[in-house]
Amino acid sequence: MPKVVVLPGDGVGPEVTRAAVAVLREVAPDVQIEEHAFGGAAIDAHGEPYPAQVREAVLASDAVLLGAIGGPKWDRHPRELRPETGLLALRASLGVYANLRPVRVFPGLEDKSPLRPEIARNVDVLIVRELLGGAYFDPRREINGDAAHNTIGYTRPEVERVARVAFWAAQQRRNKVTSVDKANVLEVSELWRETVTRVHDAEYASTALNHEYVDSAAMLLVTNPSRYDVIVTENLFGDILSDLAAVLPGSLGLMPSASLGDGPGLFEPIHGSAPDIAGKGIANPTGAILSVGMLLRHALKRPAVANRVDHAVTTALRTYPTRDLGGETGTEAFAERVIEALVHTGVV
Ligand code: NAD
Ligand code: IPM
Ligand code: MN
Repeated sequence: MPKVVVLPGDGVGPEVTRAAVAVLREVAPDVQIEEHAFGGAAIDAHGEPYPAQVREAVLASDAVLLGAIGGPKWDRHPRELRPETGLLALRASLGVYANLRPVRVFPGLEDKSPLRPEIARNVDVLIVRELLGGAYFDPRREINGDAAHNTIGYTRPEVERVARVAFWAAQQRRNKVTSVDKANVLEVSELWRETVTRVHDAEYASTALNHEYVDSAAMLLVTNPSRYDVIVTENLFGDILSDLAAVLPGSLGLMPSASLGDGPGLFEPIHGSAPDIAGKGIANPTGAILSVGMLLRHALKRPAVANRVDHAVTTALRTYPTRDLGGETGTEAFAERVIEALVHTGVV
């Protein structure tokens, strides 16, 4: 029996997670679900964001489903006692170095995008964000009176392994990779670019590869998103570009992710705990539900069920849009509409 550890987290995290778990239970009733406090909730309950018993549980699981963490309550804590530090430690302990963040405008949902329909139509980009390197994890960091610094470092093997994931993903899509860096200014990007090119030439020569600077890519991602198939980039650039890309389908609440390494995968919407709307029952659970789809696809290897979840979400969004998309459907009601659509297509 596959085991999924669920970490609802903080703010809207528990709300969207409840919706996503309802869908998971519906389509995969054999899955064993184990829930733990994590992030701010774990600081409150156990004095630390990522307690040892949670670490043990996730390492023994087949996949981890996370809501979101953080919030003003913990923002002034010392860094080791912040929810965000727990999230980074969770990613590091699972060894999930490749973060897949798909951005799609599903047919019939072009009107949810703030962009003109002819730009929004058929957008289908996969951002592969390196997740365990760069400024986030570099030990050379300090704040010293009026000066502070962080360092962006990458090693060749770190770049190679995420590049391979990007090429592998591209081969199952439109076979095109754009590597995004800042090689006109940063040495670390020079190494990044050279390494991606080497992996390409040696192992994936039949896949199209081009390189772009991150500033220009940010502009093109919004003005001409159809030029992209797979984008591969370093940790911080990927964090920023993926929130920017959420503009394309129309809301941050729509965006799922899968973080993959050699062990259990971590599946989470890309948005945060949204303190401004937490507790109101109005958060869009789509990103969390589509993350369940990615869990079914990548961790449980059930692609047919994953496709049906994607399809049911699209159907529900067309008829019952949530508040962030100009509709009125609440979090729980939206999950019910998704389950209804699943029943219609005969998955359960
Ligand atoms: P956020 O992503 O929480 O919110 C940004 C905006 O998007 C807000 O207006 C919010 O209401 C809206 N939004 C987010 N999710 C939504 C949803 N599902 N439905 C509808 N609207 C949604 O970013 P923030 O406000 O900058 O950060 C809040 C907290 O979340 C911080 O503590 C931050 O560190 C944390 N954070 C956590 C994660 C994570 O757990 N992976 C990701 C990003 C931010
Ligand atoms: C995300 C978040 C996290 C990140 C924060 C909360 C540590 O913004 O998952 O995108 O920067 O990776
Ligand atoms: Mn982010």
